[in-house]
Amino acid sequence: MKQRIITLLLLVTAITSFSQSKTIDQKVEALLKQMTIEEKIGQLNQYSGDSNATGPITINPNKQTEIKSGLLGSMLNVLGVTYTRQYQEFAMQSRLKIPLLFGLDVIHGYKTTFPIPLAEAASWDLNAIESSARISATETAANGIHWTFAPMVDICRDPRWGRVMEGAGEDTYLGSKIAYARVKGLQGERLGDINSVMACVKHFAAYGAAIGGREYNSVDISDRALWETYLPPFKAALDAGAATFMNSFNDINGIPSTGNKYLQRDILKGKWNFKGFVVSDWGSMGEMVTHGYAKDKKEAAFSAITAGSDMDMESNSYRDHLAQLVKENKVPINLVDDAVKRVLRKKFELGLFDDPFKFCNPEKEQKELNNPEHAKIAREVAEKSIVLLKNNNAVLPLSKEIKTIAFIGPMVKLKRANHGFWAIDLKEVDSTYIVSQWEGLHNKVSQNTKLLYAKGCGIIDESKAGFQEAIDVANQADMVILSIGERFDMSGEAKSRSNIHLPGVQEDLVKAIQATGKPIVVLINAGRPLVFNWTADNVPAILYTWWLGSEAGNAIADVLFGDYNPSAKLPMSFPRDEGQIPIYYNHFNTGRPAQNQSNTNYVSAYIDLDNGPKFPFGYGLSYTTFQYSDLRLSKKKMKNTETIEVTLKVTNSGEVKGEEVVQLYLRDKASSLIRPIIELKDFQKIKLNSKETKSIQFTIDNQKLSFYNQKLEYKSELGEFDLMIGSSSADIRLKDNFELVK
Ligand code: BGC
Repeated sequence: MKQRIITLLLLVTAITSFSQSKTIDQKVEALLKQMTIEEKIGQLNQYSGDSNATGPITINPNKQTEIKSGLLGSMLNVLGVTYTRQYQEFAMQSRLKIPLLFGLDVIHGYKTTFPIPLAEAASWDLNAIESSARISATETAANGIHWTFAPMVDICRDPRWGRVMEGAGEDTYLGSKIAYARVKGLQGERLGDINSVMACVKHFAAYGAAIGGREYNSVDISDRALWETYLPPFKAALDAGAATFMNSFNDINGIPSTGNKYLQRDILKGKWNFKGFVVSDWGSMGEMVTHGYAKDKKEAAFSAITAGSDMDMESNSYRDHLAQLVKENKVPINLVDDAVKRVLRKKFELGLFDDPFKFCNPEKEQKELNNPEHAKIAREVAEKSIVLLKNNNAVLPLSKEIKTIAFIGPMVKLKRANHGFWAIDLKEVDSTYIVSQWEGLHNKVSQNTKLLYAKGCGIIDESKAGFQEAIDVANQADMVILSIGERFDMSGEAKSRSNIHLPGVQEDLVKAIQATGKPIVVLINAGRPLVFNWTADNVPAILYTWWLGSEAGNAIADVLFGDYNPSAKLPMSFPRDEGQIPIYYNHFNTGRPAQNQSNTNYVSAYIDLDNGPKFPFGYGLSYTTFQYSDLRLSKKKMKNTETIEVTLKVTNSGEVKGEEVVQLYLRDKASSLIRPIIELKDFQKIKLNSKETKSIQFTIDNQKLSFYNQKLEYKSELGEFDLMIGSSSADIRLKDNFELVK
């Protein structure tokens, strides 16, 4: 008897350990076998909850019943542990108890908000960027959410497009590094950790090249531009382990991304071997009908599944038509199975089958939403994102002992505006945790400083009725800080602007205050590069403060008073006028390049303005100065199997400590396809005490010299290269050249 019990126990242990040791793929296969076609298609369907909708929401009184019947795989816009638990409980009443996935647009923070992604890109600080994503993930996961629709990695050379605020700017190299850091930060050590969320890299692909910068517009680009400029950040995000991708609203060369087999099956799931799943953008499957690509939603469902879109966000094309398409033998069941397996695999990886309520812990939610460490990091990241555009006569940093400061402008006392677009409107929290610019200044100055305030004008309205009060206040002060810019909802999704000048009468307000003769510092808050030529040419000091998030006020005060020495560099070229757009630093030379600003005779130039950008890519000042010297190349000729070590020295020649972004650019002098006149290939952000010198080393390898040739092969070509080391793309401090030889 005893013997039989032991044998039985051993058998049970063996079976249990077999089931535990089953791989995720085996578990997925086993589950798939039990699923009906309706349940399978349910896994590919996603509905929105009631908040934050960016498109038409499915009005469906039967949502609960559908979840209980196993007919829904995922929801977006359901926030907080209470609500996610409630919906998950419905899913646990379904036959197979497949947990729901909850997704949300956590673009630059959950409760703690960080600078908008474009601002954060200006930090060129990959550790800071990763740490802000880490905190966003921690807060998001603590709120019952498994998945964020970030990072947005669309390269964009057109500041009219409102969604520039969501990306990392115009440069592919910088954008790729940032994409990698963001995915690492969001997903942490591994999926399934309690503080990790799945990243969703978007929008695949080339959405940032929308014609004319007009939202949702078509994209018409060459394969070469696609591969060289727009795809690399996606690949970098994938290399970082991104769990999911989102396709894009736009058509690309006539085929909507959602129905684009080349992008999704051939490149992403084929060449790049992506094992995660692709979610459509909001309603983008159904919109293929509006595009004129599919005659109805059934045909749209056919195109989408054939092209490799796995999950349908809110268009109900799969829900309503996919089963029928399978029955009619138009869609092979293995396409559906593949999509379902991709979704299920992620649910297993997240650990949701072991504990569907794993992310629904109210104590953890409270703890993470009130973690003071998060605000501290948000403040540091915000400081690092502020770009010092101008500082004539060393107006900045200010003394904390100034007797009277007038803080003027429509942004001064706003709170939520500092979040910028894509902030999560948490119902349970108010705006008290956001530090306004006014509060930040108050926290900073000594008791001997008197702060005066006047609004001056609104952001967009044309009234100048408040000017006189602002002038009076300025006249009573020793100096003026003016905070102006865009309203928080003027950049973001569906916020394209044809005119990107400072809105309303704000630049007139700057003129009126400048006329008082008081020293002025202007803060420009915006989600994109704006045009503000008069201000740029006339006021002595300008800080581009973007939208900095919940710690905006403190971070701005830190920079104004020199507690943080600004170190940010522009991730996009700032135009002088909309007519110059698209404007980007890494353009081709043309056969007739303009040699200087003034000679426009029969050269590639506009005759009615200076042709360079107002502020170039990579530009940003510091309260100190940096000297570059001693550039050395380990050799002047290299084979494609070799490397060149580049060394140089940078000295902080000023009086205060500071950080510099040392930028390495290359130019391939002659090749089978023209290369840009200058191209970022590496950078390092270094810290230097006053008078300190550091040696810096870069490595040139074949990868850095390669490009997509006419056959779309990524290869280098023999010949000469210019090497340039700069403090910006337009401020090259050291130069040399080398040759790639056989
Ligand atoms: C946007 C996506 C976003 C989705 C869900 C769409 O309108 O294009 O970026 O993730 O809405 O909110």
